[in-house]
Amino acid sequence: MLNIIIFGAPGSGKGTQSERITSKYKLLHVSTGDMLRAEIAAKTTLGELAQSYISKGHLLPDEVIIDMLAEKLKHSKKNHNGIIFDGFPRTVAQAQALDKMLQEHNQHVSLMLELEVEKDELIKRLVKRGEQSGRDDDNLEVIQNRLQVYHHQTEPVMDFYKNAGKYNHIQGNGTVEEIFELIANVLDKHTDK
Ligand code: AP5
Ligand code: MG
Repeated sequence: MLNIIIFGAPGSGKGTQSERITSKYKLLHVSTGDMLRAEIAAKTTLGELAQSYISKGHLLPDEVIIDMLAEKLKHSKKNHNGIIFDGFPRTVAQAQALDKMLQEHNQHVSLMLELEVEKDELIKRLVKRGEQSGRDDDNLEVIQNRLQVYHHQTEPVMDFYKNAGKYNHIQGNGTVEEIFELIANVLDKHTDK
């Protein structure tokens, strides 16, 4: 099984690249942000809670996210070659919980891909999407908060995977196709082993 964490700041291209990776390598795409937005759209209790955090650019409490993910893993079909985790783990506590959850399914994280994109480009991409699609956390004030939260709470997760020897850097500027090629090189090397 190929269990990948796609990691990077808001706007770094996690969702965009996940779609391509999922289709080439037949993986299940698990995006906690997409799951939360689906809860908001369905007006569930979890959705109501999620909205209050997402609209400010803050992270939901770890236990809420971990419970949501555990349910997802329990009920997902097994007709894939592994999972790509997008937007999770975002704290070291979530990374530790993921290890434990995967162990319960006799699995482990294969590798992490970090998409590194400079701050001006991140802001440019997100502001542009905000103007087009209206994701309500894509406005300048909330984008700044999301970037701060990423720096303080999420970046430390990288060291967790560096220490485990699972970290891979991907230069995330360029066209979607160019970046996907860099990713595919890493994944092909890994799957050839
Ligand atoms: P989440 O949905 O995960 O959002 P995010 O991490 O802030 O990042 P985005 O989804 O905006 O960016 P992305 O990296 O996926 O980039 P994308 O491909 O879309 O989280 C939202 C909120 O949910 C959080 O703030 C938090 O409140 C909550 N949450 C979620 N998970 C949580 C967790 N685990 N714990 C606690 N709370 C959690 O690309 C961005 C834009 O750029 C798009 O318009 C795209 O078309 C464009 N683009 C992509 N690639 C390129 C390129 N190469 N060149 C030019 N444009 C590009
Ligand atoms: Mg995304």
